[in-house]
Amino acid sequence: MSGERPIGVIGVGWVGLVTAACFAEMGHEVIAMDIDADKVRSLNQREAPIHEPGIDELLERNAARLTFTTEMEHVRESARLLFCCVDTPPTYSGDADLSRVQAVVSQLADDGDYALVMKSTVPSGTGRAIRRDAPGLAYVSCPEFLKEGTAVDDFLHPDRVVIGADADAEWAADEIEAIYRPLGGEIVRTDVASAEMIKLAANAFLATKISFINEIANVCEEVGADVTEVARGMGLDKRIGPSFLRAGVGYGGSCFPKDVSALKQLAGNSGYHFQLLTAVIEVNELQKRRVIGKLQKHLGSLVGKTIALLGLAFKPDTDDMREASSLVLAARLQGEGAEVRGYDPVAGDPARELLPGVGLAGSAEEALDGADAAVLVTEWSEFAELDWKSLRDRMANPLVVDGRNFLDPRRLRDAGFQYEGIGLANGDSDEAASAPESAQASSR
Ligand code: UDX
Repeated sequence: MSGERPIGVIGVGWVGLVTAACFAEMGHEVIAMDIDADKVRSLNQREAPIHEPGIDELLERNAARLTFTTEMEHVRESARLLFCCVDTPPTYSGDADLSRVQAVVSQLADDGDYALVMKSTVPSGTGRAIRRDAPGLAYVSCPEFLKEGTAVDDFLHPDRVVIGADADAEWAADEIEAIYRPLGGEIVRTDVASAEMIKLAANAFLATKISFINEIANVCEEVGADVTEVARGMGLDKRIGPSFLRAGVGYGGSCFPKDVSALKQLAGNSGYHFQLLTAVIEVNELQKRRVIGKLQKHLGSLVGKTIALLGLAFKPDTDDMREASSLVLAARLQGEGAEVRGYDPVAGDPARELLPGVGLAGSAEEALDGADAAVLVTEWSEFAELDWKSLRDRMANPLVVDGRNFLDPRRLRDAGFQYEGIGLANGDSDEAASAPESAQASSR
């Protein structure tokens, strides 16, 4: 693509880095800037500051097309499309903090020969506000729909690409469409406000699906039904679809909690009470705590009991612990007087800072040694491959609470465990609880 102006990327966090690396992979020159000089230095040495499958290979393979800088001026002078990927974390009120976006806008000229392309998730109305302050700045909304752990693949094989622009930025929207067209996803051309809303509405809907199936799971426990069967039967209806119907200990991560509360706040700020989202958030908070009741059912008081958390990241294949269910769970368990241990295949470093008082183990075996119960919080594949038979003898008490319905209950019970899932028929746990080596019998 020589001869064309490079693509600019502003903010090289997780979204920005994946975006920059994937554009380079598609053959474009990319100039990416970040205010963090240490990050820029390591990226120029081709070291990725995040754990994301495939990113190291992309940086390596496309090194010649990727430039990282701390100078906004370099980006402004050379790029025509400036993809804004700075973060928009939630404030105490639940609104999105737009200060980093505003800092970027303040450095762009109102009459520059470039367009600002918003990839950061911002509330609907942000584009209009930016254009009010900088009426000459061409502005396009092009939200990202990447999932951590599969972000590179998601970027290169999108379901759809949403491009929202008003009439004066049509030229930029056309250029963005031309860049994305080879990837094959459906291109949705629309106005700025609708593009912003598509992103928030999509994430809020997915979060709603999760809270819905979690509530179904809780009812399943009462009526002796199995939520995995229910989800299978529901998901075969094409109008519902099978994805995002996995019951568990709630959703986490950098997007769902933030975007759901941003949409709720956005509605509230304009005088509309979004009742459904209020419930979605509350159900998710309660779901993280349900494990406590399951442990108490078998162990009685948790005072002095050792509970091992398997998996600390908000989902597998990432070291991201933002809004992870493990954070709430560990704090609640400590509040109940339990001694908490944790193990995660990659999130050990962030966990050290975020989980004070939690003993971090170097392996699942170490975490489970002498423990009164194991709680599977994140479904890392290595947990399915553990030698549960031998672990049964290492633990003080053979109890597994599977917060993701990830392990094979039959295998666990055959290995001598009491097994509790989320929304599984009571038979599973009752059968185990009446076994001779019940928790009460062998608990310390
Ligand atoms: C999400 C969106 O999927 C993505 O489109 C958006 O751009 C960013 O937010 P991500 O945060 O990476 O991506 O995670 P995702 O894989 O969607 O999972 C989010 C959370 O929901 C995780 O904590 C996961 O464990 C939980 N989840 C997901 C469930 O509890 N049940 C499910 O069925 C699916």
